[in-house]
Amino acid sequence: MKRKTVFSGLQPTGNIHVGNYLGALRNWVRLQDEYDCIYCIVDLHAMTVEYDTSDFAKERGEAARVLIACGVDPKRSLYYYQSEVPHHVELAWILGTITGTGQLSRMTQFKEKSGTTGANLGLFAYPVLMAADILLYRADAVPVGDDQRQHLELARDLAERFNFRFGEEFPIPEPIIPEHGARIMSLQDPKVKMSKSDPDPGSRILVLDDPDTIRARIKAAVTDSGSDVRFDWEQKPGISNLIEMMSLFTGRPLESIEGEYGTGGYGKFKEAVAESVIEGLAPIRAAFAALDDGDVEQIVRAGALEAHEKAEVFQQRVRERVGLRG
Ligand code: TYM
Repeated sequence: MKRKTVFSGLQPTGNIHVGNYLGALRNWVRLQDEYDCIYCIVDLHAMTVEYDTSDFAKERGEAARVLIACGVDPKRSLYYYQSEVPHHVELAWILGTITGTGQLSRMTQFKEKSGTTGANLGLFAYPVLMAADILLYRADAVPVGDDQRQHLELARDLAERFNFRFGEEFPIPEPIIPEHGARIMSLQDPKVKMSKSDPDPGSRILVLDDPDTIRARIKAAVTDSGSDVRFDWEQKPGISNLIEMMSLFTGRPLESIEGEYGTGGYGKFKEAVAESVIEGLAPIRAAFAALDDGDVEQIVRAGALEAHEKAEVFQQRVRERVGLRG
């Protein structure tokens, strides 16, 4: 029986943080056993906000290396840079012709990002390119964090609209969003998500951070009034965020952590959180150090060739359906 296809992407600018890891990358890795997985470093998406051209290729290479260190296995998954496969952009154009501008202007991320960097057409059309990424390979499932929910909804709408207008072509992709960890919050403001673009580096922990940095970040994390360690997003978002991280890194249930640290004060609890994060990230740091940039570049280049071939076969069917062939 044909295995189902999984697709997901990650923007390469800014460093990869524990939110990316717990919300998405852990699922990317896990799903490799069961599905045909395609994982993409989405460099074209990263160009929709201001970026430094001189650092771009370096950051992209580093992201590629971090993802392999996190467990993306190029022997089992197709792995490449988006810009190496032009079919993403071709399909985005075609999908753009059936996308309403009203729907795009309601996208939360567009509203947020256009507020800080100014609106451009790329940022406005971003969700259409993302839909194309997913539909290009007829993906059945897409592992992402909670912030991508609305974009996934658009991809599903566009698949349905295309199928209705041009004939049954795309499966309707299902989001895979974890019950816990889908929205890791900023350490400095637990009301907003942890983000690569937050100007305050104290707001996040990077997967490559050294133990001392992790200890310092968690020690300085904003907590809530009171002193009990209790999982309660309404009353105690700062503490809940830390409990959730500890639970995910150790595999311990939330209640067991509450049970052990409930009344012992924040200090002791934060030290334990820091140690669990350090331990959880140690294999990633070690794997990163053991990788060679040249090898990583070869892996993504070989991945791009294979992805290109695959995309061409699929895209030919789209060209036929929309009347661009014969
Ligand atoms: P990006 O690069 O912002 O993030 C990569 C993945 O990490 C998840 N994530 C989080 N999860 C939990 N807590 C957080 N604080 C947190 N921050 C980020 C994101 O949900 C994402 O899964 N638009 C996408 C990239 C993309 C894509 C695609 C994804 C482009 N094309 C096709 C899936 C399918 C993005 O900007 O992810």
